Amino acid sequence: MALNKIKIAWGLILASIAIAASLIWFLHDDYARVYQAEYAGSEVCGGCHLINHGQWESSPHHKITQQPKRESIVGDFDNGEWYLPEKDRKTELDRLPAVKTYSQSGEYFMALRYPQSEQYHPFRIDRVVGYQYRQTYLTKEADGVLRRLPVQWSVSRQDFFAYWNEQEKGVHSVHDLWAQMKTLNSAWNLYCARCHTTNLDIVEKARDHSTANVKWTEPGVGCETCHGPGSKHIKYMAGKPANRLMSFFNQLLNEKTAPYIMNASRLEKGVALSVCARCHGSDILRKRMDIYRTYEPGFDQHGRYSDLSKYFKEAPLVPGRTAPTVEVWIDGRPKGLGTLFRSFADSRHYDKTDMRCYDCHDAHANKEESSLGLKSASAESNQFCLSCHTEIAEDQEKHTKHTAGTSGSFCYDCHMPQTIANAVAGDIHFVRTHNMGTIPNPYLSKRYGAENSPNACNICHQEKSPEWTIDKLHEWGQDSHMLDQPLHLNRTAEADTVH
Ligand code: HEC
Ligand code: HEC
Ligand code: HEC
Ligand code: HEC
Ligand code: HEC
Ligand code: HEC
Ligand code: HEC
Ligand code: HEC
Repeated sequence: MALNKIKIAWGLILASIAIAASLIWFLHDDYARVYQAEYAGSEVCGGCHLINHGQWESSPHHKITQQPKRESIVGDFDNGEWYLPEKDRKTELDRLPAVKTYSQSGEYFMALRYPQSEQYHPFRIDRVVGYQYRQTYLTKEADGVLRRLPVQWSVSRQDFFAYWNEQEKGVHSVHDLWAQMKTLNSAWNLYCARCHTTNLDIVEKARDHSTANVKWTEPGVGCETCHGPGSKHIKYMAGKPANRLMSFFNQLLNEKTAPYIMNASRLEKGVALSVCARCHGSDILRKRMDIYRTYEPGFDQHGRYSDLSKYFKEAPLVPGRTAPTVEVWIDGRPKGLGTLFRSFADSRHYDKTDMRCYDCHDAHANKEESSLGLKSASAESNQFCLSCHTEIAEDQEKHTKHTAGTSGSFCYDCHMPQTIANAVAGDIHFVRTHNMGTIPNPYLSKRYGAENSPNACNICHQEKSPEWTIDKLHEWGQDSHMLDQPLHLNRTAEADTVH
């Protein structure tokens, strides 16, 4: 009797679930795979995706481009002064500050001294770019150009510095600071903003970048830079509860993509990596810049370049520097921060595996790790590498020759050494190369000098010579991958003709 009741109860429950499911099925709207949508802005997305929005809100992606406010200004605008370096002061006037900074009624100003004069020209700050390592100041000109001011703030030095003069190791002069406000790349909204805003549209510009008519949906890297325009997604989701439920169950049970929005993790490698490569790989060819700018993540449809992978390795890595961030070691390996993505694309892990940026980096809280320990040389990061390299897992010390758990025993120590340079005001902060298959090569260090061709072993064992490392690796029988010639043989000629 009791058993029958339970059976009936269960029957009713199952029947209601079946009815609810079919109701959702009947009530939900169909949707198209290829569509044209508008940008809605991250705030709207945040209305439903509270957690993602909360994480993103305090991330560098959100905060890269901001209004000048007490909270966003990291430089000294409390009657700050910046002088030309002692060695470059040529006249009496050069004893005066080259730049003065101050705030007035809630507005911020950078005043630049006229060459050969005691007079200053005040520029109002209309936007600030960056805050983690350095901060750039922009002033809006009458013809629509957001002009980058020549003096920036270095967070590590807690001082202003003339970015370009330090980059180029050139002579500082007030005249030169003014000249830097005429260069093509000083027009921030024409030159830089494609990587610092969402949905940049250059409507019109003068060839010399003296005038600009530029629009964007929001400053900073908003949700839709990575997920594509979301108006249709929002309309669909906000419309009927059945649509939301259907999408929710579809994701849960079928791992099906939600309607009208792109999620990189559900797409194939080239399309998915394009999402990050578009900004983290600035070593692209100049002639491709517009493609990278108008790129929108999403489905291939007319006018959208959703797969940039054919361009990833296109630009030759010419040793030396072609732009401040596009810098290449003498042996042909990527060096500047702008080649971080390239170092990944050059790795066999790019060709042969499905490794993604967000295996290690949280896509939303991008200073965090997607899985604890993956951003540091640690047992957890070893676990990640060993999940594929199982043969080494059996006896790690046999391979690493360093006591397990100590510095020198972690996979990143030797295979992701800090060889990518984030050059901030003369202080170089080295970031790990993203070629996870880097093999320490002391032969190249011997050939070019350890400072021009660093290898992981001598980065730690600085007091030892490359020859010492060659001997050790020979003793250990671990020099089979090492060649006494540059890594990228097709670039040998370039490498050899530079000096
Ligand atoms: C190809 C895309 C791209 C272009 C173009 C670009 N940037 Fe960036 N910018 C980035 C990326 C990516 C980072 C972060 C790099 C990192 O930390 O790994 C960055 C970082 C910065 C930072 C430091 C942020 C901080 O918090 O310290 C500043 C300042 C900056 N860029 C200014 C500029 C200026 C000025 C220009 C134009 C001359 C420019 N960028 C052009 C992609 C770009
Ligand atoms: C820098 C690129 C980027 C930005 C900006 C970004 N996302 Fe994402 N988002 C991703 C990637 C990549 C994934 C897949 C992550 C994964 O699978 O680990 C993802 C996944 C998601 C998901 C799927 C569920 C989940 O958490 O994995 C949602 C929902 C989402 N993002 C919403 C948002 C919203 C809302 C914003 C803005 C507040 C936003 N995203 C900003 C790249 C981005
Ligand atoms: C009215 C509510 C609502 C709004 C507003 C909204 N979404 Fe969604 N979104 C959903 C629901 C419901 C799902 C499916 C269930 C889930 O993943 O949570 C979803 C799923 C997603 C996914 C996962 C897609 C996948 O295939 O894995 C992403 C990414 C996403 N939304 C991004 C955005 C972005 C970006 C915006 C702003 C342009 C936005 N959403 C605005 C309700 C909304
Ligand atoms: C529209 C351009 C753009 C896209 C797309 C983009 N980024 Fe970024 N990313 C930036 C900029 C600009 C910064 C620098 C922010 C800062 O330092 O203030 C940055 C910072 C970062 C940082 C922190 C760097 C640091 O030094 O603190 C990580 C990690 C990162 N991005 C990963 C990703 C990943 C992973 C993706 C793809 C899912 C991605 N980014 C997509 C422009 C972009
Ligand atoms: C195997 C894990 C792994 C993968 C995959 C990975 N990264 Fe990283 N990434 C790291 C580590 C480790 C660092 C160094 C962090 C440090 O030194 O604090 C780093 C640093 C960075 C930085 C400099 C910011 C910082 O916090 O110092 C950026 C930008 C970045 N990665 C972007 C990317 C992009 C874009 C991809 C995809 C092409 C990617 N990463 C894939 C592990 C990874
Ligand atoms: C998803 C699986 C996978 C993961 C995770 C992985 N690898 Fe690999 N690794 C491979 C494959 C596949 C190759 C290429 C093997 C070949 O071509 O014979 C490779 C090659 C290598 C090589 C040889 C050099 C080269 O580029 O061919 C080294 C060194 C290496 N991996 C180190 C690492 C390190 C360190 C990590 C962790 C950051 C890691 N791997 C994570 C699959 C993986
Ligand atoms: C102390 C430095 C060091 C550490 C730590 C280290 N390796 Fe290596 N690894 C090397 C050297 C050197 C080679 C080249 C060996 C050779 O040429 O015979 C190498 C080669 C490799 C190869 C290529 C093997 C082949 O024959 O194709 C893989 C895969 C690899 N390492 C994975 C890892 C993994 C996974 C870890 C972390 C558990 C790790 N390594 C830690 C120094 C190191
Ligand atoms: C991340 C830093 C780091 C890297 C990379 C590294 N080591 Fe070490 N190494 C250490 C430390 C710390 C010790 C001392 C602790 C120990 O013995 O484990 C050490 C010890 C040694 C020793 C024994 C002590 C001595 O001075 O004779 C040798 C030999 C050695 N390393 C060689 C190498 C070689 C060869 C490589 C590259 C394949 C390498 N190391 C990479 C940090 C490193």
